Amino acid sequence: MAESGAGGVGGRRPEPEFGDPAAARAAALNFDLKRVDRAFLANPYPTYRALREHDPVHRMPDGSYFLTRYEDCVAVYHDAAGWSSDKKLDFRPNFGDSLLFEHHTTSLVFNDAPYHTRVRKLLAPAFTPRALKALQPRIETLVDRLLDEAAGREPFDLIDDFAAAIPVRLIGDMLGIPEAERAPLRGWSLAILGALEPVLSPAQRERGVRAVADFKAYLADLVRRPPSRRHQGAGEILSILVEASAVTARERGGPGATSGIEHLSEAELLHNCIFLLNAGHETTTNLIGNGIDLLVRHPQAAQRLRAEPALIETAVEEFLRLESSNQLGNRRAARDIALAGVPMPAGTYVHLAIGAANRDPAQFPDPERLDIARSPNRHLAFATGIHACAGMSLARMEAQVAIGKLVARFRSIEPAGEPVRGGRIRFRGFLHYPLRLS
Ligand code: HEM
Repeated sequence: MAESGAGGVGGRRPEPEFGDPAAARAAALNFDLKRVDRAFLANPYPTYRALREHDPVHRMPDGSYFLTRYEDCVAVYHDAAGWSSDKKLDFRPNFGDSLLFEHHTTSLVFNDAPYHTRVRKLLAPAFTPRALKALQPRIETLVDRLLDEAAGREPFDLIDDFAAAIPVRLIGDMLGIPEAERAPLRGWSLAILGALEPVLSPAQRERGVRAVADFKAYLADLVRRPPSRRHQGAGEILSILVEASAVTARERGGPGATSGIEHLSEAELLHNCIFLLNAGHETTTNLIGNGIDLLVRHPQAAQRLRAEPALIETAVEEFLRLESSNQLGNRRAARDIALAGVPMPAGTYVHLAIGAANRDPAQFPDPERLDIARSPNRHLAFATGIHACAGMSLARMEAQVAIGKLVARFRSIEPAGEPVRGGRIRFRGFLHYPLRLS
């Protein structure tokens, strides 16, 4: 099996199945997220199924719970008062008082009301249907150009040459980052998100800290430039946030004072911009990569999509369900609470296994099967509740254009070597995926 120097694992390992129910039960009862092997990273679904069937509210050695049933995950997501998103307690052991701690604890996603509500409101105008419609032609032009280049490239790396190029370009535009300055963005993003893995090596931590420092310094310089020296176009997010923090500074009589309730301090502004790039980048890259991988593994589905291009919308939902690019969510009990009849004291930490919930037969008929016309398909790939992904419409649009156009343009999409998985638990996708297109 091919393994990458970046900790990746080969993409085509055969499915490890459990021989009998006793073996599945033992695997479920002994499951520890902090001690998973490479077979799990390549294909976690048999283990998720064993957990769902034998121990769906699974207590792990560190006292946290691992939830694999759809309805339990939804119950947690929908009870924001009972289940907190605030991660200050959780990030301290791995991040200390480093910049990684400052970054992740300032992102809206890892906060509760009222801070979360305030930032979420500020971001909303950038994600309206109107704002997104304005981006669509840009996505189409970009995808056409990438596919023109792909036509002459042999082999073609699905990730480097296509999937990763799309979101980085769009978020770069939305943040007003000049094109010539975008090269480090992907590396920063991978390093910062890599630091969210359950087990963190000193090298991963160091890479993450350095990436936050470099990215923060870069953005601090960018927001101080006059708008004419930022990328022009749909820079809505940055303009909105800069305006919000400028208002704060004016009201406060200068930078450095504590922020008012409706506005953003400079650190809040910078960290939420960093978060936007991270939130919208690797996840969308992986959605495009995972979607094409599913079509490579199911050529009849690719054939059907070519014949019925209108299926692209349900197809993308099915890719999100079956190979969710974000596999895990987390919450902490804000008070003594019971979940599925299990009493949990305040402070209990839970892992929401999105990848497992999305294959729960109680919610999805024949859940292991790829059905590109599946409807309804209320998957949890974007979570649900007050923290549901703010960028879901953008991600959907990018994936529909990218995957729809690639499939329409090439009659044959075949592997040209061993794909290499990212080798991570939380973010599921490929680092490299050589393809032959004709
Ligand atoms: C396939 C692509 C994507 C996936 C699978 C995804 C998944 C998620 C998930 C699961 C959450 C909830 C996290 C939690 O509360 O536990 C989330 C939140 C978020 N996502 Fe996405 N996301 C994607 C793309 C994007 C894009 C393109 C953007 C923006 C450019 C974005 C911006 C956000 C923001 C701002 C939040 C925080 C929402 C809040 O806390 O209120 N995401 N995303």
